[in-house]
Amino acid sequence: MQLCVALDLPSKRENLKLAKELKAHDIWMKVGFRAYIRDGKPFIDELKKINPNFKIFLDLKLYDIPNTMADAAEEIAKLGVDMFNIHASAGEVAMRTVMERLSTYENRPLVLAVTALTSFDKKNFSLIYEKSINEKAEQFAKMSYENGLDGVVCSTFESQAIKDGTSNEFLTLCPGIRPFGEDAGDQQRVATIELAQKEGVDFPVIGRPIYKDENPLQKVKDILTLIA
Ligand code: C5P
Repeated sequence: MQLCVALDLPSKRENLKLAKELKAHDIWMKVGFRAYIRDGKPFIDELKKINPNFKIFLDLKLYDIPNTMADAAEEIAKLGVDMFNIHASAGEVAMRTVMERLSTYENRPLVLAVTALTSFDKKNFSLIYEKSINEKAEQFAKMSYENGLDGVVCSTFESQAIKDGTSNEFLTLCPGIRPFGEDAGDQQRVATIELAQKEGVDFPVIGRPIYKDENPLQKVKDILTLIA
């Protein structure tokens, strides 16, 4: 299990301050819409300067026509990030086009597909997808696996079933983790780190419980002790 910290703070200065506080640990850093739209590639370069062993997950959830997604994937590969994601609902052709385009890159980033956002509750999910979260997440995961992706973004509650239906090596990255039962905020399907571990989660993604804590470094240490 590898910890991924969401850098969702309101300014570049605050995100970099957090990264500096955590620099002794070779963990994953998640750069999402807010940080990337505002701070772009220089921010990624600065993170790598703080700790060259930080791994970067660029969470931009691509969703477009296949060729546009493959163009974007190629630009992402050139940024030197270690992982990024697309929406599974963009479909099989998009998945294949993205993976084919990346196949020429020696050290291509890992590619994950978003199944069901962890902020969805049952009712709002079925209004869009007309299936239960579990069913759809497992279906999206199989589709992603069969089309050469490295894993999926899902909730802890689907992680083991997804691995059972694909492969144990197929990665699951799960937001909505409240390591020690902290406030859920807008997340609907939250899990503790202990449960995530039991469900075979490869990457627990944790934002607010770390950056809103008065001692983020200690929080990270506590989490790492638990998952070591
Ligand atoms: O603060 P919190 O721990 O809830 O942060 C979760 C992070 O994971 C946020 O950056 C959010 O955008 C992201 N995310 C998510 N659900 C997904 C994919 C990403 O919550 N399905």
